[in-house]
Amino acid sequence: TIVRLADYRPSDYLIDRVDLDVRLHPTETRITATLGLRPNPAGEPGAPLVLDGDELTLVAIALDGQPTGPGAVAVTPRALTLHQPPQRPFVLEIETQVNPSTNTKLMGLYRSNGVYCTQCEADGFRRITYFLDRPDVMAVFTTRIEGSREAAPVLLGNGNPVEQGEAGPGRHYAIWHDPHPKPAYLFALVGGRLGRVGSRFTTMEGRDVEIAVYVEPGKEGRADFALDAVARSMAWDERTFGRAYDLDVFNVVAVSDFNMGAMENKGLNIFNDKYVLASPETATDADYANIEAIIAHEYFHNWSGNRVTCRDWFQLCLKEGLTVFRDQEFSSDERSRPVHRIAEVRTLRARQFPEDAGPLAHPVRPQAYREINNFYTATVYEKGAEIVRMLRTFLGPETFRAGMDRYFTVCDGTAATVEDFLAAFAAESGRDLSAFSRWYAQAGTPTVAVSSTYDAAARTYTLTFRQSLPVVATEAAAPAAPQPLVIPVVLGLVAPGGGPVEAASERVRDGVFVLDRAEDSLVFGGLDAAPVPSLFRGFSAPVKVEHALTRDERLTLLAHDGDAFNRWQAAQSLAMEVLVGRARADAPLAGEAGPDGASLTAALATFLDGEAAAGGTLADPAFAALVLTLPGEQEIAQAIGAEIDPDAIWRARQTLRVQLGRDLGPRLLALREALAEPEGAPFSPDAASAGRRSLRNAALDLVTAADPESGTALAVAQLAGAATMTDRLAALATLSLVPGEARETALARFGEAYRGEPLVLDKWFALQAMIPEAGTLERVRGLMHHAAFSLGNPNRVRSLIASFSLNNPSQFHRPDGAGYDLTAEVVLALDGKNPQVAARLLTAFNTWRMVEGGRRRHAEAALRRVAEAPGLSPDVSDIAGRSLAPA
Ligand code: ARG
Ligand code: ZN
Repeated sequence: TIVRLADYRPSDYLIDRVDLDVRLHPTETRITATLGLRPNPAGEPGAPLVLDGDELTLVAIALDGQPTGPGAVAVTPRALTLHQPPQRPFVLEIETQVNPSTNTKLMGLYRSNGVYCTQCEADGFRRITYFLDRPDVMAVFTTRIEGSREAAPVLLGNGNPVEQGEAGPGRHYAIWHDPHPKPAYLFALVGGRLGRVGSRFTTMEGRDVEIAVYVEPGKEGRADFALDAVARSMAWDERTFGRAYDLDVFNVVAVSDFNMGAMENKGLNIFNDKYVLASPETATDADYANIEAIIAHEYFHNWSGNRVTCRDWFQLCLKEGLTVFRDQEFSSDERSRPVHRIAEVRTLRARQFPEDAGPLAHPVRPQAYREINNFYTATVYEKGAEIVRMLRTFLGPETFRAGMDRYFTVCDGTAATVEDFLAAFAAESGRDLSAFSRWYAQAGTPTVAVSSTYDAAARTYTLTFRQSLPVVATEAAAPAAPQPLVIPVVLGLVAPGGGPVEAASERVRDGVFVLDRAEDSLVFGGLDAAPVPSLFRGFSAPVKVEHALTRDERLTLLAHDGDAFNRWQAAQSLAMEVLVGRARADAPLAGEAGPDGASLTAALATFLDGEAAAGGTLADPAFAALVLTLPGEQEIAQAIGAEIDPDAIWRARQTLRVQLGRDLGPRLLALREALAEPEGAPFSPDAASAGRRSLRNAALDLVTAADPESGTALAVAQLAGAATMTDRLAALATLSLVPGEARETALARFGEAYRGEPLVLDKWFALQAMIPEAGTLERVRGLMHHAAFSLGNPNRVRSLIASFSLNNPSQFHRPDGAGYDLTAEVVLALDGKNPQVAARLLTAFNTWRMVEGGRRRHAEAALRRVAEAPGLSPDVSDIAGRSLAPA
């Protein structure tokens, strides 16, 4: 069934109070829910009360303490209907029974490694008890959790701990009370044997908060970084947004079976252990950065998500886009802003742009859905964050902050909408945001075409911008003619020889020009020469820019732009021209020395020399590493747009890597030496140390592309002597691209050395699944029988299967269709166990219409096989159906 935003109606009943009594048992957990209900004044008087359920077994029910009369209630596993509810406040007592041990969907109450835990967003609470499971029904929860002292010495709930004690032989209980009304999707409980690390944080309001991170016993030493990230997140949200924490305890629990990254349950965040556990021996710099970002993300939800929640699931971006924006700002402040911005844009281009260009395209605020869990997408999260960022650019940082304050104040304790959010900024700024709001409603990535003219006689320079918007058909609506978007263009002018150009235009305020019609021009006066325009600085809008700069203009920007993002972008654009040219022509591997590539390597050589001159050994190694990294295969595919040959793209990229490695080889080797870790230096995961490692390893990778033999020797030595997982894994990744004995030995040893470390083995699975060779398919099939692999664990599936299907384009798109077949086979095998993870894997087919005809036919056949399989989950059937819908 399809749910439409246009059909929203308030609930006919409200639940103000919930008392839960949960008696944990491995297979027969009993839940008694005492619900304080009343008719909603905004609802339909006398309507039946329909509570949601999902695979539930009812044990008992009472209305105001009395058994319900015959025929008064209808019960199925999916719903409990009270035909004639009292038209006054009343109490329903409902007892259900669930089996946490067989709950492989990992929604509702389940066991992970013996630990009882919950996941209720978006609609998992109905798998625990019958409820009005919708975010605009908010209640005060009190939870009594009872369990075996032996199996569950730790019992955690939402809010503050109230009481604990004995509950019969071998059993104990804990009572938790959460004073903040919340929707059921924010409910959580945990029971199990867990190790704990803790500290305290005093809020700016003077509240003394106990913060703790719970992990598998014995892994406490790997939880310190996450604990510290909690404290830093709390301090940052106070400093940056004036938001303080509002309970006496804040708990984070790591579990090893989790469908997504983590969940912001009130006062009790539950995490995929991949985003908590870190030690120098087992975690890479990327892991540390992800842990910090996701800890921050979930913590920031306490205000953007929990204190102000969503009226309905169409408003998902209200909490997710905003919270991603907040965690991006946190990481930028804690680390390097330009480096982080580049990373954000790379993800957006590799994930969100393809989504927006394919059959699963949807507006940041969708109009309709069949399965809400399929809308936790790059569009809702990442493009949603870009909209908030544009709002800040459009209004200026002070007005933006004032608008945020107003939003939090006005909407505190409510279930809000995108309109409520925008209204706060409209009120604060006095500006009409109705045109801006189109960003939430129109799907597809806009293109902005820019042209420029210089008039020497008049000494004027004119920039003309033209926006064009794709027409996107979605399930909810026939394609409508898109309206112009409000596009903030952060810009500056650079002198041809470097240095800023001071030229004014009254239409540019604080460096921002707002393009809000289909076409517009900007004129700068008083210029003695044509400047080089630096447009969309910091990637000020999520658009594709068509701007025919000359090679020399790009070189000027790479060398001299005051905006680091656009320096990087200049190098990317130079590389992209070469890559697209080669991929189109499908240059053979031997023909790598085209003149086009030579000019890129010359530009990068000048860049490296300039950077070294500016900052001794290099001002910002992480930035330099990004400049040396070519656009990814997905991005190149998007630039080509149709009839794609993924092998030709891979070859184009590979030949250019070979050329970079050869032409820059001596420089890269020198950098690698200069950045070497001093012997015995203590490990630090900070951005500067990580940046040095990333440039060193980028150098190793390029050098090895050009000269596999000597590169292999370097990588083997690095693997043997590395002090960090970052360096070890980078060496292994480099080796994994060179077929032969050394690679197989290194892989086998690594697999053996980390036999007992599932999260490290995940990296090992992923690396092998991403080898761009025809033998990889069989390697992946073989690894599916590895003792550490299991279809039941989402991290394993993501590292082995999704790495192949989503991150190894040339092999997923094998011309014989075998990559599609493997993916379809796993999707079907997984669907019966865990539909959410199966559906996510199926999104690998997102680009199927863009590949050339032979592959396209194979992809379509595989998709159809999935779509036509009997007994599909709504999750997989939704993705398959939308993927196949006529374009
Ligand atoms: N709210 C979580 C986060 O972004 C994501 C949970 C999504 N879970 C799901 N089953 N769809 O922080
Ligand atoms: Zn989130």
